[in-house]
Amino acid sequence: MATFIVLLGPPGVGKGTQAKILAETTKLAHVSSGDLFRENLKNQTELGRLAKSFMDKGELVPDDVTISMIRDRITRSDCGAGAILDGFPRTPIQADALEKMLAEFNGEVKAVPFITAPESTLVERASGRWTCREQGHIYHQIFSPPKKIGICDMDGSDLYQRDDDKVEMVTKRIRVYLEQTMPLVEYYRKAGKLLEIDGTQAVEQVTKELLSALYK
Ligand code: AP5
Ligand code: MG
Repeated sequence: MATFIVLLGPPGVGKGTQAKILAETTKLAHVSSGDLFRENLKNQTELGRLAKSFMDKGELVPDDVTISMIRDRITRSDCGAGAILDGFPRTPIQADALEKMLAEFNGEVKAVPFITAPESTLVERASGRWTCREQGHIYHQIFSPPKKIGICDMDGSDLYQRDDDKVEMVTKRIRVYLEQTMPLVEYYRKAGKLLEIDGTQAVEQVTKELLSALYK
């Protein structure tokens, strides 16, 4: 059975950072809904243009388009054994849709690590973030700087600051998260899948806690 791990947590808490490490460790694919929207934006697709109009306001992209984008992505062959889902699902409707999709593909949500940190930490992390243009590798100007300013260590492409990482936008995204995504905490707690992880610790420590919670 294909194994899916859902990373849940507020904007800037470190989902993308941990998802990349977990994907390497577990050899599962990394599927980030935010990265997929940004890729569409870069390629100037219709989906990219539609997503931009919501992302620029810090709002969620409508469920129907998000669900069909994820369905397309997880039916690709690299997700045959499962995937680390980063940023999806983000609403109860998306969570129900994921259950239905996985039932069709003989997959299951194995666990849902829920990473948390106070709002001041989220703002500090997101506002200092630098993202790699080519593959979305993640840096922070203080906590994990690249070796050369403005250049990705992994693939040499340039680093940029996301438009939605300005302080007012991060605050708005946190509000949207509290209203629309927080219900998923109870949803997955009731299903017995929630693993609470303290995201205030250093990256390596968060990874260690995640791995021991997932494979205890
Ligand atoms: P998305 O790209 O998913 O953004 P997000 O959920 O707001 O989360 P972030 O990517 O901002 O943070 P993260 O938790 O991944 O943190 P990271 O590891 O980068 O979504 C963007 C937009 O797309 C949404 O607003 C919405 O419009 C749309 N969208 C996406 N999915 C959707 C969906 N399912 N439905 C509808 N719309 C959707 O880390 C942050 C920074 O902190 C980095 O600089 C990193 O280096 C640093 N850092 C990480 N961990 C640590 C640590 N432990 N200690 C110190 N620094 C750390
Ligand atoms: Mg992210």
